[in-house]
Amino acid sequence: MAKVRLEDIKRRFNNVTAIEDITFEIPDGEFWVLVGPSGCGKSTILRTIAGLETATSGKLFIGEQLVNNVPARQRDVAMVFQNYALYPHMTVAQNIAFGLQMRKVDQRIIQERVMSVARSLSLEHLLDRKPKQLSGGQQQRVALGRAIAREPQVFLLDEPLSNLDAQLRDDTRAELKQLHHQLGITTIYVTHDQVEAMTLADKIVVLNRGRIQQIGDPQSIYARPANEMVATFLGSPPMNILPAIYRNNAFDVNGHLLAIPPNVAQYLHLPQGQSVDLGIRPENIYLNEPPFGFASSPSRQEPRRGLDSQRHREQGEEELGELVVDVKVVEPLGRETLIRAGLPGSSVLVNVQVGGDVRLRPGDRLSLQLDLNHLFVFDTVTGDRLYPPMNN
Ligand SMILES: Nc1ncnc2c1ncn2[C@@H]1O[C@H](COP(=O)(O)OP(=O)(O)OP(=O)(O)O)[C@@H](O)[C@H]1O
Ligand SMILES: [Mg+2]
Repeated sequence: MAKVRLEDIKRRFNNVTAIEDITFEIPDGEFWVLVGPSGCGKSTILRTIAGLETATSGKLFIGEQLVNNVPARQRDVAMVFQNYALYPHMTVAQNIAFGLQMRKVDQRIIQERVMSVARSLSLEHLLDRKPKQLSGGQQQRVALGRAIAREPQVFLLDEPLSNLDAQLRDDTRAELKQLHHQLGITTIYVTHDQVEAMTLADKIVVLNRGRIQQIGDPQSIYARPANEMVATFLGSPPMNILPAIYRNNAFDVNGHLLAIPPNVAQYLHLPQGQSVDLGIRPENIYLNEPPFGFASSPSRQEPRRGLDSQRHREQGEEELGELVVDVKVVEPLGRETLIRAGLPGSSVLVNVQVGGDVRLRPGDRLSLQLDLNHLFVFDTVTGDRLYPPMNN
């Protein structure tokens, strides 16, 4: 087990820069997830750590050792690829045992390790089969097993669950987390799936276009995304973005006015006519009026919210946080229902989650209450977070 440190790693392919300014240190034994959209450089970073790719510049350390010039097979890392490859002529058991055989580990230990790995990945009944007699998901688990059996210093996993069906994916994800807990091997896991990133990671590294956007633990990144890309990438359904113009102490969202909460106005000092992107997560939006009631979970039904809006009304601030929308799509998910709604006369869409028992149809008009205590403001051009303050 070892820590892994990247210092200003850059990789160019001819004149294309795939990754740059990549700097982070993963403490020994932690589980880190690299996440970002397709092409953002996740696999390139992982392959560079594995030694399958050479950094154009920068330093890479595994433990205390500078490994830029150490060949892949001497790095004591095990990698599971996006397109894993098993040895077709070997059985499942032989595939899992392969790395250990190469190292001339004692046969009895090999057998024990193969059995325990097979058990933890539900492969016991398949040990005598050849890869072509397995489903894609089973093959993927054998590839995982082969890496796990070696007990390397560092695990590098590149979308290892991508071929599994939804149920098996959830189960294997939980097994991986448990395995990591048991083995404590430093793990770097690549995915474009934000749910995998949130559920597995000690720390998440969010990447976009070859650059790090933010590093942090899942809850901090969710609560305090550094920019609009991170804000909309993590969370499902994603954060709503409402393009707005600042005018007369209000945000004008396509003709619909939202009064600016005093704490936001005090901090921001925006010039008149300034464009901004407002961000608000679906769980911070509520249906305003009966008969629809509030959205699903008990925490969203605190009477405080009702009292708040009543108070605003008494103070003549009834426009605070209210938005009228038309329902476009209704997606029941059982426990809750996802509503995609549109601002009348505009292309702006708002995602709202309501209780599973709320019956709505396309065309229904809704009054929404936005909990502006959870409002984000982003720079329209750079996407940087303007509010809440970055040091907050
Ligand atoms: N051998 C190569 N030659 C040229 N460009 C490359 C090469 N390998 C990767 N790239 C480019 O580098 C960028 C990063 O690629 P990379 O495979 O790291 O992305 P990724 O985040 O893993 O994407 P995905 O989620 O689709 O697997 C992409 O723009 C890709 O086209
Ligand atoms: Mg990739």
